[in-house]
This record gives sequence, structure tokens and C-alpha cells, in this order.
Amino acid sequence: MRASQLLLPTVKEDPAGAEAASHKLLVRAGLIRQLAAGIYVFLPAGWRVMRKIEAVIREEMEAIGCQEMLYPVVNPAEIWQQSGRWQTIGDELFRFKDRKGADMVLAMTHEEVVTWLAAREIHSYKQLPQLWFHMQTKERDEARPKSGLLRVREFIMKDSYSLDTDFDALQRSYDKHIAAYDRIFARCGVSVRRVLSDPGMMGGNIAHEYMASSEAGEDEIVFCEHCGYAANVELAVAGPDSAGPATGPGRGGGAPREIHTPGRRTIDDVAAFLGIEPRGLLKTLVVVSDDRGALLVAVRGDHDLHEGKLRRIVGEFRLATPDEVVAAQGVQPGFVGPVGTSLPVLGDESLRGGVFTGGANKADYHLDGIAADEVVDEYHDLRVVRGGDPCPECGGALAGERVIEVGNIFQLGTKYSKPMGATYLDEQGAEHDIVMGSYGIGLSRIAAAAVEQHHDEHGICWPAAIAPFQVHVLVVRAADSTQTALAEEIYAALGERGFEVLFDDRELSPGVKFKDADLLGCPVQVVVGKLAPERVAELKLRASAERRDVAVADLPAAVTTALAAS
Ligand SMILES: Nc1ncnc2c1ncn2[C@@H]1O[C@H](COP(=O)(O)OP(=O)(O)OP(=O)(O)O)[C@@H](O)[C@H]1O
Ligand SMILES: [Mg+2]
Ligand SMILES: [Zn+2]
Repeated sequence: MRASQLLLPTVKEDPAGAEAASHKLLVRAGLIRQLAAGIYVFLPAGWRVMRKIEAVIREEMEAIGCQEMLYPVVNPAEIWQQSGRWQTIGDELFRFKDRKGADMVLAMTHEEVVTWLAAREIHSYKQLPQLWFHMQTKERDEARPKSGLLRVREFIMKDSYSLDTDFDALQRSYDKHIAAYDRIFARCGVSVRRVLSDPGMMGGNIAHEYMASSEAGEDEIVFCEHCGYAANVELAVAGPDSAGPATGPGRGGGAPREIHTPGRRTIDDVAAFLGIEPRGLLKTLVVVSDDRGALLVAVRGDHDLHEGKLRRIVGEFRLATPDEVVAAQGVQPGFVGPVGTSLPVLGDESLRGGVFTGGANKADYHLDGIAADEVVDEYHDLRVVRGGDPCPECGGALAGERVIEVGNIFQLGTKYSKPMGATYLDEQGAEHDIVMGSYGIGLSRIAAAAVEQHHDEHGICWPAAIAPFQVHVLVVRAADSTQTALAEEIYAALGERGFEVLFDDRELSPGVKFKDADLLGCPVQVVVGKLAPERVAELKLRASAERRDVAVADLPAAVTTALAAS
């Protein structure tokens, strides 16, 4: 491909409001353009990256025996009503009516279509297992599309589905996907961690996410270098504190004692005023929940309540208003505590056995010596786990990291097959629900995560397997006929050897061309300059900036070696 003919509109300015490096670089390098919030055009170089990612995924899915097909984006609402997701998913699901007035859906994922198909085409255990995949546009009316390709409203997903007779067989399909996913991310040059995840709207029991380390990510994980425990903070748990339960000065045994804490409402203020660590305090909140009404929720002063964890226990909830707090506890927020309350008290596991200082339910007073076991009605895992917390498996220190979710895998079980009637007959002729799994990868998330992990101040440094071109040939002085002739020769020769070559034949200053090449980030650059009369060019590796002179005859071998290393 000749740069003079390629639509590769590089720009100097970052897109307005962009924070993520991948957002800035993909736009500046001329790979994508935003049509509307979270809706992008892929320009030729950007689409080449996507096609390469697609090819890697296709090879690896086929290698585990997964069959490719294509499911439609436009779905009748009925199948979403049958699965229940028409009712449970909110505004993220694009809905519309067709000309006859029938409710329709733009598919945001394809469990419904797959289960519909399985219900019709799978009858017998002899047909199982089945592994199906497709790569298709997904539509989601995301609340906050942002960060370029990282969170968009229209994107291409590889989603695969496994159909099995039972959970043991599902585990085998799941393990095959784990092996395929490891290879896919490794080949695409994206380093990931597989972590335990919350099955969320997909339902089912066991689920994992593939997380690529990046500051631009919206998710947080914790992991243990000692034993391998790794989980999304949405469901991560911590082990018991090695320092033991909190006990402070003058505490332990006896009745709680009132202490005067005038105007001290926050954990930090109270801790500073009393000269104790926040971990010796109770953080007590009044919440109003759908399932259980008003509740008192307590976590340690140095911990934060995890809203998702509490929601899983008590249903949707909100913080009580100050008036509701006064009505329930007889005091303003800031001095609320668990002693003497009429509300049920839910406490975080880390409070077990500890003695704390907490609100006295009396203005300007706290209570010292509150034994958690005497006031907490139910212990649950309620807190946000962070880096530094103890590992639940081995007690070592967890590390925390911000990440991009690039893929995920779910053991769905019979969550969709049961309501949608996808069954099979076993050897004895008895009918069972098909046991399903679902496995997603966002193609554009891989592209963006690769850029997040591989870039420098000059631009992108594409991993070779997904680079828009493998080799970028540049001629320093396009007006010099010796240089141009040699560059043309190299361009043709590398092309004949099967390399994907971009040839910058534009009559622009060398500086502009070098800048564009570094911005676009093809792994190997071949620069034809003043050594052209000697039939020598310069080979530069984009990522390491390593450069050396290579005789034209040796270029194909040198490029092959360079690509293998990037
Ligand atoms: N809005 C989006 N933009 C780009 N890619 C996405 C988006 N939502 C999901 N994906 C990709 O599709 C894969 C599978 O989709 P799935 O529905 O399981 O994701 P999700 O849990 O909704 O992701 P997230 O938590 O980031 O919203 C994700 O792992 C991700 O790679
Ligand atoms: Mg989502
Ligand atoms: Zn551990």
C-alpha cells in the first residue's frame, strides 16, 4: 500500500476531552473517527488492525473445534421476553418497533438467539457437545460511552457458546476456552490476568474476566503473587487481618463508655481527636433497602462499604436521608452507632471479635469499648478489598491494579435453556435442560488495550501480529531518484515475499514522514536515505528504536527476524 493513496489522516491535536492514551493515539494516527458518542468509523489502517485481531481469534476458536456462524443484530422482542432480559435490562438495550408495531431489539449479546436455535436444532445427547461462535456487531446504549474504543455503543464482539449435557462437560468446554483465550491474548500482544468475576446480568455461577493492566481501565482487580488468587474487586474477599481484631486504648470488657467528641463526625476527625487509628473505629450507615427495609450497616473505619456486595444481600438500597436517620437513631449522621439501635445490624466480617469506638446515638458523643460480637446481628463480606489487604487464600499481601476487561467467560448452566425450552434427550430418553456457557471478547477492546500497553511519547508500538502493516518503508528524499528507485525496489521485493508493507512515497519533509511512521507504529521501519547508492537501507525497530544498516539483499531475512521479536 502506498501512503500517497491511503486514507491515513494523521492529526497533531488530541481529540477534545480525551484522556486515555489509546483514544488519543488511535484518532491521531488516523485509525478511527467518531461519528457520534461511542459510535466510530474504522478508517483503513484501523480496520486492518481489527481484521488481524479477528483472524487470530478465528484461528484459535477453530482450533478448539468451535464452529463459526452469524446471528442477526435485529432480534424479535419475544426471545428476550422469554429469557426475562426484556424486563431486567434497562436503557442499555436498544428497543424499537418494526413497521407492523412489533417490539424489536438490537442485540447487545446473543444468548437468546443461541438458545432459540439450540431449542430447535438440538434434540439428543448424541449431538452434544456443541461449540458455536460468531463475530458480530453488538449494540448497547451505554450510559457513559468514553475513552475512544474502550467503551462504545456499537462494537464487534466474538461471542461463543457451549452446549453440554452436564456441568462436568461444561467444565471441559470452559477449559478449552481458557486455553484458546490464553493463546489469543498472547498472540495479540496484550498481557492479561484471568480473575474471578461477578456473573452479573449473564447469570450463572462461575465466571472469569480477562483483565489487561492499564490506567485507562474502568475496573479494579486484586491479585496475590504468592498463591495466584485474583479477583475483580466487585467480588474480591480479604483474609483475616494479620494484626488481629481492632482493640484500642482503654478498651476490652466492661460496658461501653461515652466519650465527648464535640463536632467530630467523620472517621478522620474522630480518629485524630482521640489519637487512635481509623481501624479502631466503626463506620456506621443507615440504609433503606428494598428487601429488608431500614438497616444499620457497619464496616471498619479504614474500610469502605462495597455497594454491590450489600446489594446482593439486601436488594437495591439507598442511604437514609438525615431525617430518616434522626427518626431511626435519634441523632444526626456522624454520631450513629450500633449500641441500643432498634434496626438490624449488618457488620463486615473484619469486625468479628473486635472492640471499637463508634457513634453513641447522642449528639457530640461516641462510645468506647463496643464489642462487635455483642451488637452485630449478621456478619457478611461487605467491604471493598484493596491492594495491601490480606489474601483470602494464603494471607499474603494482595496487590491492586486498574485494568481493562478485554474478555470474559461464564458458566451459564441452565439459566437460558430452562426458560427457553432448550432440552435434549439422554440415552434413556429422559429430557434435560442443555447446560450452557458463554464466552466474549471485544475486538476493539483488544486493539485499544494493545495501544494502552504498547505506546511511547511518539505514538503506537503495535505488537507485530495486529499491526496495520508489518513494515513501513520510508524514503528520506523523494526528489532523489536513486533513493526513490531503491525504495520502490524494496517495497516490491518485500511485498513479493508476503510482507504487508506501507510505502511512504509522499513528497513531504523527512521529519513529517518519520513522525507519522512513529505515530502509526508499524513494528519495523525501513528507511532509504543517503546509503541508497550502496544499496543499503536502515532498519529500525519501532518499539526499541534500535537501528542498523542492512544491505538490500539481506532485508527480507532481517525483517523476518525483527518481526518475530516484536
Ligand atoms: N461498551 C463496550 N465497548 C467495547 N467493548 C465492550 C463493551 N461492552 C463489552 N465489551 C466487550 O465485550 C466483551 C463481552 O461483553 P460482556 O457483556 O460480557 O461485557 P461487560 O461485562 O458488559 O463489559 P463491561 O463490564 O466493560 O461493561 C467484554 O469483555 C468486552 O471486551
Ligand atoms: Mg457492560
Ligand atoms: Zn494468596
